[in-house]
Amino acid sequence: MPKIIIAIDGYSSCGKSSTAKSLAAQLGYGYIDTGAMYRAVSLYFHQHYVSRTNPHEVEKALADIHISFQFNPEKRLNETYLNGLCVEEEIRKMYISQMVSEVSAVVEVRRAMVALQQRMGKHKGIVMDGRDIGTVVFPQAELKVFMTADPLIRAQRRQAELLEKGDLVDLNEVLENLTKRDHIDMNRSEGPLRQAEDARVLDNSYLTFDEQVALIKGWADEKIAQA
Ligand code: DC
Repeated sequence: MPKIIIAIDGYSSCGKSSTAKSLAAQLGYGYIDTGAMYRAVSLYFHQHYVSRTNPHEVEKALADIHISFQFNPEKRLNETYLNGLCVEEEIRKMYISQMVSEVSAVVEVRRAMVALQQRMGKHKGIVMDGRDIGTVVFPQAELKVFMTADPLIRAQRRQAELLEKGDLVDLNEVLENLTKRDHIDMNRSEGPLRQAEDARVLDNSYLTFDEQVALIKGWADEKIAQA
């Protein structure tokens, strides 16, 4: 069976990661959460007081940053590692969400992450989610999906997710963070969030999780049959 690349891009908190994860498991493909990589870089910048506006500090930091993913069989998920330490929980916290869009707009950071993502996906058989996968990282991806949903619905889902982890955050704060991140992501000069011309749009505001995964799986099966 030929293997393809599946690029899933879209707005913050649309359920890209959970959809991509489920799709990858059904297809027996690898899954890469590229947002986690930008979050790990942000955590490093935070821990080491790296100024994102100082190119020298950024270059030095990037040379010291090693990001990888390891499968945790107990939790049945890929966890993000920064320089050998599991940072999966830390990078999901609100203080990282509040700085990640600015860090991910730094040109040197994007170039380093894009190169790493291209290496990770070069053997195909991969589902990768992010903001620029179908436009910059893998413009030749066989299937591109652009996910979107009503901002208020996204904020409610994100708030519930944070609450499950014990992080009680006001709905307006979550909504503001999402809107601000989308704005920065869409307006940066390097690799802005935009829909690839050949992407299929999936608005999941009123779809159940199973419905949206089934929809994408159908599109993926079509593309695999054509590959
Ligand atoms: O998917 P996420 O919310 O975990 O992503 C965190 C941030 O990283 C998001 O605000 C934008 C940035 N990002 C990016 O610029 N490019 C990607 N391919 C993935 C994420």
